[in-house]
Amino acid sequence: MAPRDRSSRSDRSGSTRRQFLLGGAVAGVGAVTAIGIDTALRAAPEPARSTAAASVPLNGDVTVPFHGEHQAGIDTAAQAHGTFLALDLLPGVDRDGLRRMMRILTDDAARMTQGQPALADSEPELAVAPARLTVTFGFGAGLVARAGGTGPAWLAPLPAFGIDQLQPGYSDGDLLIQIAADDPLTVAHASRMLLKDTRSFATLRWTQQGFRRAHGSVKPGTTMRNLFGQVDGTTNPEPGTADFDAVVWNTADGWAAGGTGVVIRRIAMDLDTWDRLDRPGRDQSVGRYQSNGAPLTGTDEFDEPDFDAKTPIGFPVIPEFSHLRRSRSDNPHERIFRRAFNYDDTPAAGQIANAGLIFVSFQADIDRQFIPIQRRLDELDLLNEWTTPIGSAVFAAPPGCAEGGFIGETLLT
Ligand code: HEM
Repeated sequence: MAPRDRSSRSDRSGSTRRQFLLGGAVAGVGAVTAIGIDTALRAAPEPARSTAAASVPLNGDVTVPFHGEHQAGIDTAAQAHGTFLALDLLPGVDRDGLRRMMRILTDDAARMTQGQPALADSEPELAVAPARLTVTFGFGAGLVARAGGTGPAWLAPLPAFGIDQLQPGYSDGDLLIQIAADDPLTVAHASRMLLKDTRSFATLRWTQQGFRRAHGSVKPGTTMRNLFGQVDGTTNPEPGTADFDAVVWNTADGWAAGGTGVVIRRIAMDLDTWDRLDRPGRDQSVGRYQSNGAPLTGTDEFDEPDFDAKTPIGFPVIPEFSHLRRSRSDNPHERIFRRAFNYDDTPAAGQIANAGLIFVSFQADIDRQFIPIQRRLDELDLLNEWTTPIGSAVFAAPPGCAEGGFIGETLLT
C-alpha cells in the first residue's frame, strides 16, 4: 500500500513578488538584512504579480484521499496540528444507532477532508482549506460490545504500570476521532462539525490538542522535536514499505483486519526539573545527542546505535538505563509506529509549564508489540524521572472504506 502522501492540490496563489523575494532573502542573507529589503520593497511601487508567484500553490488546498483500503491519518505524514476526541456512547444506542452514527460521521469526514463543507455546515467558509485534513476513527471495547461484535483480544485497557498516574479525564472511551491538518482553524472546525454529528449518540469524554512544527517551518521529512528539545521519532517504520505494513496493519482479527491498534498515552513532561539537567545528562537519559538526535556512538541522526561500545573505563557508551536501550527490543515483532504530538496547556498556579507528549502509536497487535516495550520502560528508563503517564486509551481503528461505504461497516453490517 502506498503512503498517504499522494496529496493533491489545485494551484491558487496569494503570494506577491515581494514575499517571493523576501523568502529568498531570508534564506540567503539573514533576517535583519531581509527586513531592510522588505522595507525597500514596500517603498517601491508594488510590482504586478509575476507568473511564478501566481502559481505558488496554497498549502490549504492540499487534500489527502479519504477513501481507501486503510484509514487516512495513520500512514499520512504527520500534520502540524492534531485533536483527539474520545466519546462515550449514550445508553440505549444500539447496533442500528451505531451504524447511523458512523454513516453520518464518515460522510462528513469524507467531505471536509476534500475541502467541502459538512452536510449541515453552519460555517461552510471554514471548510475551504483542508490543508491535508485527515479524520481517523477508532473503536473502544465498549463500542464493539454494543455492536454485538467480538475482539480483537488486545482491545482492552493496558495493564496498570508502576509509572502511571492516570486520570479518568484523559483515559479510555468508546469512540476515538483523530482529526489532524496543517491548519488549526480547519482542525477546530472539523472537530465541531463531527461532534455535532454525534450529539444524539454519544457525549464527549475527553479532548486532547497537540502540535508539531507549523507547516513550512522546517524541511519536509524533518523528524519532530518534543518539548524537552529531543529529536523524537527517528527509529520508526517508513510508511509505504512492507516493513511498515507488517508493523501496523492488522491481518488477523475479522472485522478489524485492514485496520490497526491505537494506543494514546498522555505523558506529562516536567520541564521545570528537566531544566536542571545539564546537556550530558540529557544526552545520556535518551542515549542520543539532543543537538541532532545522533546515537551517542555516532554522528548522524540515522547512524545505527552501537550498544556494545564501551567508554575508556568500561561502561556502555549508550547507558543501560537510557530510553533508547530500554525501548529497543531484540525481538523484531516488538516494534511500533509512533506518531506523537506535543501539548502545552495552561500551567497550574506555581507551575511554569504544563506540557508533554500525546504519545500515539499504531501497531497491528497491542499485546504482542506495544505492551512488552511499555513493560520494559516501566521497569527501567531514566526518562521516567521527568515523565509521567497521566492518560491512557486503546482503540481499534477499523479498515478504510470505499466511496459509498462507511468506516466501521465490517463490524456494523
Ligand atoms: C514523554 C514520553 C517520551 C519521550 C519524551 C520519548 C522520547 C523518545 C526519544 C527522544 C527517542 C529517540 C529518538 C527516536 O527514535 O525517536 C525515543 C525512541 C523511542 N521511544 Fe520514546 N519517548 C517517550 C515515551 C515512549 C513510550 C511510552 C514508548 C512506548 C511504550 C516509547 C517507545 C519508543 C521507541 C520504540 C523508540 C525507538 C527505539 C529504537 O531506536 O529502537 N517512547 N523516544
